[in-house]
Amino acid sequence: MKTQVLRTISEVKSHLQGKSLGFVPTMGALHEGHLQLVRQAKYENKYVCVSIFVNPTQFNDPKDLEKYPRTFEKDLGLLQSAGCDYIFYPEYKDMYPDQYRFKVIENEFSKILCGASRPGHFDGVLTVVMKLLNIVSPDKAYFGEKDYQQLLLIKDMTEAFFMNCQIVACPTVRETDGLAMSSRNVRLSAEQRVLAPEFYKILSTSKSDDEARKRLLTAGLKVDYVETHWNRRLGAIFLGDVRLIDNVKVAT
Ligand code: PAF
Repeated sequence: MKTQVLRTISEVKSHLQGKSLGFVPTMGALHEGHLQLVRQAKYENKYVCVSIFVNPTQFNDPKDLEKYPRTFEKDLGLLQSAGCDYIFYPEYKDMYPDQYRFKVIENEFSKILCGASRPGHFDGVLTVVMKLLNIVSPDKAYFGEKDYQQLLLIKDMTEAFFMNCQIVACPTVRETDGLAMSSRNVRLSAEQRVLAPEFYKILSTSKSDDEARKRLLTAGLKVDYVETHWNRRLGAIFLGDVRLIDNVKVAT
């Protein structure tokens, strides 16, 4: 089946209502990590819908929003070859008819780690995911473990609001040198790209958060945070103005 692009909420309702559906929300600039989510969704559901929407409310830095890669034509080709049935590609005015007057706020986990460095980020993420799940009404929605804090918050939100959607966690997909796949990786210079895999290496081989922080600094990586929560060591670093996040399981 050729991938169909749905631009409006009424098109989504008329094409998707009543279908057994897996859903992969994205901001586009797709890579192999997204495609694995699509393949898993296709394996577990009759139909798959992927949304592509660069959600402005989750960017606390306007420059970051401006620089976020937009590659719709390429994404379309990749999704077609991964077996995606539908793409939901909405506009801001359709997603935010209220101009962001209403939002979903979580008061605990969203305030630490990425939430501490990017105030308001998770309000934007939770709000847009709530809207997307209400519009698309999937049976299951797929999220990568790379964004571990996001994944937990979304899972908790669907439980808190009794939403009829199962959240499926999928393992982080990595380049052969260990760097977690991310849409932001394309913004790394050749020199920064050589340094970037040290992030995962150091997170996974350090005996404490403190050791990881020191080793990252010594390797020339600017540390935003390294902290352990939920049996994971989570970190965020800057390479120039590119912010990368990653996390690894730690033994208890
Ligand atoms: O992980 C992302 O790409 C985004 O935060 C999401 C979940 C699509 C919401 O905009």
